[in-house]
Amino acid sequence: MSVKEDVIGRSRVEDTDELKEFYSRLENLNAGALWTVANDIEPWEPQPTSVPVLWRYADLRPQVIDSASMVTGDDAGRRVVMLVNPGRKELSAAVGLLYTGLQIMNPGESMTAHRHAASALRFVIEGEGAWTVVNGDRLKVGPNDFAITPRGAWHEHGNDSDRSQVIWQDGLDIPLVNTLDANSFQVHPDQYQTPGKVQNSSLLEYGAGILKPAGADWNRRYSPLLAYPWERTYEALLNQAKVSAGSPYDGIIMEYVNPLTGGSVMPTMGAHMQLLRAGEATRAHRHTGSVVYHVAKGHGHSVINGQRLDWHEHDIFCVPSWAWHEHANDSASNDACLFSFNDFPVMHSLDLYTEAAMEDNDGHQLLS
Ligand SMILES: [Fe+2]
Ligand SMILES: [Fe+2]
Repeated sequence: MSVKEDVIGRSRVEDTDELKEFYSRLENLNAGALWTVANDIEPWEPQPTSVPVLWRYADLRPQVIDSASMVTGDDAGRRVVMLVNPGRKELSAAVGLLYTGLQIMNPGESMTAHRHAASALRFVIEGEGAWTVVNGDRLKVGPNDFAITPRGAWHEHGNDSDRSQVIWQDGLDIPLVNTLDANSFQVHPDQYQTPGKVQNSSLLEYGAGILKPAGADWNRRYSPLLAYPWERTYEALLNQAKVSAGSPYDGIIMEYVNPLTGGSVMPTMGAHMQLLRAGEATRAHRHTGSVVYHVAKGHGHSVINGQRLDWHEHDIFCVPSWAWHEHANDSASNDACLFSFNDFPVMHSLDLYTEAAMEDNDGHQLLS
């Protein structure tokens, strides 16, 4: 071992023959000397192994389309092209402890039902025939709609269009749940659920926005509302822009919430939609927590740890924990919208959320 940091209170022990022999003695006892790893496992500040990545839809879409004819949905279980961060391959993570992928379903196709301890969410990209049954509630979802599949909920998906394929983005906390050794998976004993008679029942029951069912009795830690339509989401952003200047770091940003509590949609993952007005460029900040972004509308760029990523509609990019980031809408006349999901609920519940604003250079990063 070499001298790592010449600071009192930090590990700075140099290897000697005597110590090397001591370390091997410890290793044989399934033990070790903390000072050989202390500076790595107790960093000065978060040291994510994830790197910023931009996944261009123009590059990925042809691969996703190819997958639709190469494997059947039944054989694959779920036909998904997953997005893998070069720094998180061992966890199949897109960033941090978040997984994401692009799922395609052919016209008339339906996947059998299953459930798992991991929580999931969907953001629809293209196709008109998408449906999912979550705990017996059949949801119809279209482009830019957001839907959740809470932990333990039986779910199955399909496409009832007779001509167009459906592509949606999945987001899951699989890497988190696996890291916690808490994942499990079950296939439905009847292969398919029997959905209730009323389609989108959770939206009818809990989606009023300004009203909730009086005396609603809900004691789960996830939202009773399972689907969040794009039209209402976009309208909410436009209305918010009439009364608020928004966040200096995110523009007009709103969170998808559990309508009964105002809290995040699920205990492990939160989701936002944000609107960057024409020509808007935000200031840089950073925080603990990882984020996966999906460009729902428009085009622009983000700077992440000094690296500029230019994005277009349906591109996906990630911001690792503690990475500096700022966003810009490059259109002078049209707004841009970014959907994102994150692990902020985990950070908040563990009291690990912390945030810092960039003060230098008028709040903007220097390009590296
Ligand atoms: Fe699933
Ligand atoms: Fe941020």
